[in-house]
Amino acid sequence: MNDKTDLAPGSQVPASWWRDGVLYQIYPRSFADSDGDGIGDLVGIRERLDHLAWLGVTGIWLNPTMPSPNDDWGYDVADYCAVHPDLGTIDDLDALIAAAGEREIRVLLDLVPNHTSDRHPWFQDALTGRDARHRDFYVWAPPGPDGGAPNNWISNFGGSAWTFHEPTGEYYLAQFLPTQPDLNWWNEEIRERFDDILRFWFRRGVAGFRIDVCHAIVKDRELRDDPPVTPTDHRKLQHRTVKPVYSANRPEVHDVLRRWRTVADAHGAPDAAQDEAPILVGETYVLELDELMPFYGTGRDELHLAFNFLFVHADLDAAQMREIVEGVEAGLPPDAWAVYTGSNHDAGRLATRWAMDDERRARAALLIVLTLRGTPFLYYGDEIALPNVPLDPETALDPVARRTGDPSDNRDVCRTPMPWTAEPGAGFTTPEATPWLPFGDLAAHNVAAQKADPASTLHLVRDLIALRRRTPDLTAGTYATLDAPDGAWAYRRGDGVAVAVNLSDATVSVPGVAGRIAIGTDRGRDGEAVDGTLDLRPSEGVVVELE
Ligand code: GLC
Repeated sequence: MNDKTDLAPGSQVPASWWRDGVLYQIYPRSFADSDGDGIGDLVGIRERLDHLAWLGVTGIWLNPTMPSPNDDWGYDVADYCAVHPDLGTIDDLDALIAAAGEREIRVLLDLVPNHTSDRHPWFQDALTGRDARHRDFYVWAPPGPDGGAPNNWISNFGGSAWTFHEPTGEYYLAQFLPTQPDLNWWNEEIRERFDDILRFWFRRGVAGFRIDVCHAIVKDRELRDDPPVTPTDHRKLQHRTVKPVYSANRPEVHDVLRRWRTVADAHGAPDAAQDEAPILVGETYVLELDELMPFYGTGRDELHLAFNFLFVHADLDAAQMREIVEGVEAGLPPDAWAVYTGSNHDAGRLATRWAMDDERRARAALLIVLTLRGTPFLYYGDEIALPNVPLDPETALDPVARRTGDPSDNRDVCRTPMPWTAEPGAGFTTPEATPWLPFGDLAAHNVAAQKADPASTLHLVRDLIALRRRTPDLTAGTYATLDAPDGAWAYRRGDGVAVAVNLSDATVSVPGVAGRIAIGTDRGRDGEAVDGTLDLRPSEGVVVELE
């Protein structure tokens, strides 16, 4: 594998599977069902690895795979060192890692260190009394002066973040569901237990973790009140009353991240390049770039990748996205590496969120995500521009929609089974089985039909991934904004590639581009010569190999 000194052309950073490759997020319940119970599973994923190899991804992140009562679909963990029986066995996971490895695909798991299930043995013990062995594993506080909650912190899922436990007369903190009690990261023993959990999975060949709620695990030790949200705060905060200043993103979280990085780096084989060590990818849900960058530490001692929610929550708008990317370029520590994504299991699918179910816009969005300077993460189904599936909020399985009653909170719409074919069962499960969530319009979007059509989004994504992987300018090359008319965004990657995307409703001409179109969202333009002026129709994007 690459030596640390084996720098990618034009780059200060070594070439690697996670910097130069494309990663792919799988919601395991919804990818492929091998046993006909309507729920996706690990054997199903293994049976579909050839799709991922064909697509060209170098790593997969699996949403939670650990035993859980599923109050929050796996994000309420009852055992950190095992596999959820719905998904299979630990042998199935070992076999998946091995089979993926044969295709040079690494496997990342989802680690949920902010909270456990209330059915985790630690919490069950903590409930037995104030002096219980594991009481201090969680955040307990006496009632506030008015006899109510200890402070004004609110749950991310609505309501107070505090739940009163009558038998022991104290409140416990739960920033999501009351059945997801927050762990106390001031307790040294918690830190040690998690070191062991990391090592347990690294020893099994897991190539790293996506770390859930990474920014919020350490809370203010004094439990100070959060300040009110102000009109200048990011629009995603405007539905809250208070801003998570003391309940999240505390400086001490960085001690934990440095500690995990040491554990991860120590796992790399001693004589191997650092890039063979497992990686840490954080769900760093902060909405200011200057709050995001510190999660990289020096660039070598905290997270390898810190998800950029400013980008996720931007509109598909040239000026908004360009400003965020320029901010990342200016603010990233020297050895750090960006990450870009447009869909996930919480925010929804880019085909709907960004593209309003207009496939041309989805193709333009995919072209952007796959050509920026940073690791692209695709969410399963992105490769066929799968939209959110409209579902009745009355029957939502997502606890957030059930709790708030707000249909727009229903995350089920982006967690529906992968449509492999248009046949009954969609190639996801047997024709007889009822999938755990309904399919969308199978005729409109399925893998088999798009595989047979070279002009499809699936082929576009595959070809963009292949181009990225064989073009050092598109992986490690610098980013530089180019002149472009309003509503369009153009950038150079390295010396040899330009990308231009028209996100406006009018035809535009981008000046100063000469070369040959390598890939266009309109495949009819592949190979076209560009003589200095590049015309783009609405929602069109191209990658140009420069003269
Ligand atoms: C993260 C997960 C989300 C989950 C929450 C609580 O935000 O991505 O799905 O509900 O954490 O664990």
